[in-house]
Amino acid sequence: MRVSVVGTGYLGATHAACMAELGFEVLGLDIDQAKIDALTRGELPFHEPGLPELLLKHVQSGRLRFTTSYEEVGTWADAHFIGVGTPQKPGESAADLRYVDAAVTSLAEHITRDALIVGKSTVPVGTAERLGTLLADARAHAGLPGTVELAWNPEFLREGYAVQDTLAPDRLVVGVQSAHAEDLLRQIYAKSLAEGTPWITTDFATAELVKVAANAFLATKISFINAFSEITEAAGGDIGTLADAIGHDPRIGRKFLNAGVGFGGGCLPKDIRALQARVSELGLDRTMRFLAEMDDINLRRRDRVVDLAVQVLSHSLNGAIRTTGVGEGSGTVPSPAAVEILNGAKIAILGVTFKPHSDDVRDSPALDVANRLFTAGADVAVYDPKGNANAARRFPRLGYVNTLAKAVIGADLLILLTEWDEFRQMDPEDIGRLVDRKNIIDARNVLDPAPWQTAGFTHAALGHRF
Ligand code: UGA
Repeated sequence: MRVSVVGTGYLGATHAACMAELGFEVLGLDIDQAKIDALTRGELPFHEPGLPELLLKHVQSGRLRFTTSYEEVGTWADAHFIGVGTPQKPGESAADLRYVDAAVTSLAEHITRDALIVGKSTVPVGTAERLGTLLADARAHAGLPGTVELAWNPEFLREGYAVQDTLAPDRLVVGVQSAHAEDLLRQIYAKSLAEGTPWITTDFATAELVKVAANAFLATKISFINAFSEITEAAGGDIGTLADAIGHDPRIGRKFLNAGVGFGGGCLPKDIRALQARVSELGLDRTMRFLAEMDDINLRRRDRVVDLAVQVLSHSLNGAIRTTGVGEGSGTVPSPAAVEILNGAKIAILGVTFKPHSDDVRDSPALDVANRLFTAGADVAVYDPKGNANAARRFPRLGYVNTLAKAVIGADLLILLTEWDEFRQMDPEDIGRLVDRKNIIDARNVLDPAPWQTAGFTHAALGHRF
């Protein structure tokens, strides 16, 4: 079977390389010529562990090729996976569906044989049904040979683990309208099926909703523990122990209960907003209202880090802890008192990606915090093992350095914002010899405070009283 993958971002490039690994002949399509040129040379335009090796292997073997031509994929492939982006519309909550619409229309106008189009992008419920109509109309108009069907098969991969999540998924969900479509998908995923991966055959709406429900649940779990962080910060208590203790209950589970600066990236934030927009369209204004609260809790964590920076610096300068009124979800400019303290303070920003093992800075809490501190007058030195280049494209005026040591030399305060191993493994004694003032904020709750305190650091962490 020959497979095409339309859209070669994180999702599409991973899917294409993994399909080749499974033994299929694969043609990846993108409208971005520069991206296609890079992929054709076997170069991955983003960081994803394990993917460069897979890409190169299959580009060299000739099993994986790339093109910008719909005509080429339309005359060649039996199944076409759509992995284009569905970003948040600027200034709105809803998802922008123009790229999926364009992909389906373009395929419909170029397919010249029997084929299955398989949507993988995350879309609002009702999209696949609408695309089915779009497809039928475009096919009738094009008058080309071949019967073309649509299926929906949401993707659950995590950045940083994209290859393993694709080759060995937790489950496979397929929304289909015929036994033929299901049969083709079973052939494509035969290896996972043989390994016992749970397989769920369902309708379009359920398939679309499974994906957004999973992301909404994950976002809720993170915001739930972060809401308890606000309590332990005010009343005392240890947020990590609390998460461990409730996580022992298998009905709750410990995963995704890591308190910190919150969730970001290209998926969870925009997906919970798109879901609220979609249910409002359905006349269910109250149904997902709690997600607005989850979004707020999440964004308040960023304010809290800025507030904590002011408190720690003020403590270090005056020996007193000052509350500055930055918090409470303001998300705006810090107060004049806070600006006075931040102005000229040298702050080492450790991590700017939205999570480790990725170079993605889309909606990154870490980068947002770095920019807010910079805007308030701090002299920030940003270091991320993989994310500096993308961060510098987004916020060119921040100070970027290419080693951890350069970031911390002469610093008044270190803030750990993305939990890369390099930061988890820092030696407090070594770091202490480089800084001007021994202050550290752990915004991901990954450092053991004891050795830092022994080395003379003032240690503060989210979810802990300061
Ligand atoms: C997420 C989902 O986990 C995937 O299943 C889904 O396929 C994907 O979105 C998507 O829709 O394409 P991803 O965005 O790669 O994957 O990142 P996650 O691993 O979910 O992390 C999201 C954010 O939550 C990160 O900023 C991370 O630091 C944060 N997080 C995660 C926490 O703050 N605490 C936790 O306990 C876990």
